[in-house]
Amino acid sequence: MLILGIETSCDETGIALFSTKQGLLSHTLHSQTEMHREYGGVVPELASRDHIRRVLPLINQALLAAKCQLHDINAIAYTQGPGLAGALLVGASIGASLSFALGIPALGIHHLEGHLLSPLLSSPAPSFPFIALLVSGGHTQLMQVDGVGQYKLLGETVDDAAGEAFDKTAKLLGLGYPGGAALSQLAKQGQRGQFKLPRPMLNSGDLNFSFSGLKTAVLTLINRQEITQQSRADIAFAFQDAVVEVLTEKSLAALSQTGLTQLVVAGGVGANEQLRNNLTLKAASVGVTVFYPELEFCTDNGAMIAFAGAMRLQTADISSWEPASSFTVNARWNLEMIDLPDA
Ligand code: KG4
Ligand code: ZN
Repeated sequence: MLILGIETSCDETGIALFSTKQGLLSHTLHSQTEMHREYGGVVPELASRDHIRRVLPLINQALLAAKCQLHDINAIAYTQGPGLAGALLVGASIGASLSFALGIPALGIHHLEGHLLSPLLSSPAPSFPFIALLVSGGHTQLMQVDGVGQYKLLGETVDDAAGEAFDKTAKLLGLGYPGGAALSQLAKQGQRGQFKLPRPMLNSGDLNFSFSGLKTAVLTLINRQEITQQSRADIAFAFQDAVVEVLTEKSLAALSQTGLTQLVVAGGVGANEQLRNNLTLKAASVGVTVFYPELEFCTDNGAMIAFAGAMRLQTADISSWEPASSFTVNARWNLEMIDLPDA
């Protein structure tokens, strides 16, 4: 089976072709980061319009790279939600139209299911069950992944996502958008112990997170003194140190509570070097293996959607499925509420 994956939930247009026999054949991506940078964040209307411009050329590129034709595709997997409604509609309408035109099934995939299964595209891959720490610009969640379609939310942020906190703090420090990577670079020149920031909800007794207070604490620090290049770096260090400690400790708590020994880190913040070093060090001391999918599978991409579609198709009887004649998107969608196709 050859599955075409289409991801358009936010500011990346991602396309991929995944073969259930040969694995990932090709994937293509266009990131809109440059376009949104001058506005300091994602502008939904601009995002939708750009997806429209990119999606068909990217599908053609992916077909060319995989040496396939449109009629070789057996099913389509598109991101149905959560995300920006207008952006999602672009992928859903293309997915449904191709499904109708080619007479093949279309599956609406939950974006976070894509992220949770994406580590299986990497090598070495974890085996079920594992704990996933999902840390992106929009999400901060700890999930228990027992198998395809078997996801249990263990904890999540009660306010800002970790990536969002990085971006907002970076903005306060005069760094560009998105600022996570730049803040992390600046933190390398920072010194430990110059500033102490709180560890929000570290001892809350549950697996939830809160990051909006940290950003406010940084603002208070900035307003309290004259900011030099060194103090900016020291503040960046203190901020990153606080976020990394909380993410690490809660991940370890999730592992110890469930008795699982594999941790997968997905989402853009998973690129953070200090988080990786700290997690790897702490996990090794308690016999836990940490998996970091390649960055291209960590951030938004079409491969994870095609792969999630392939996994779904393997457990479903699609002989009675009709090609799509309509489509819906779910801008807000709880992962634990997804309907599994009938087996
Ligand atoms: O998963 P992702 O590419 O996109 C979505 O949010 O869907 O994550 C992007 C987030 C941004 O907030 C960005 O600032 C953050 O990941 N990020 C980082 C680093 N690289 C990207 N945060 C901290 N350290 C990094 N090195
Ligand atoms: Zn994402």
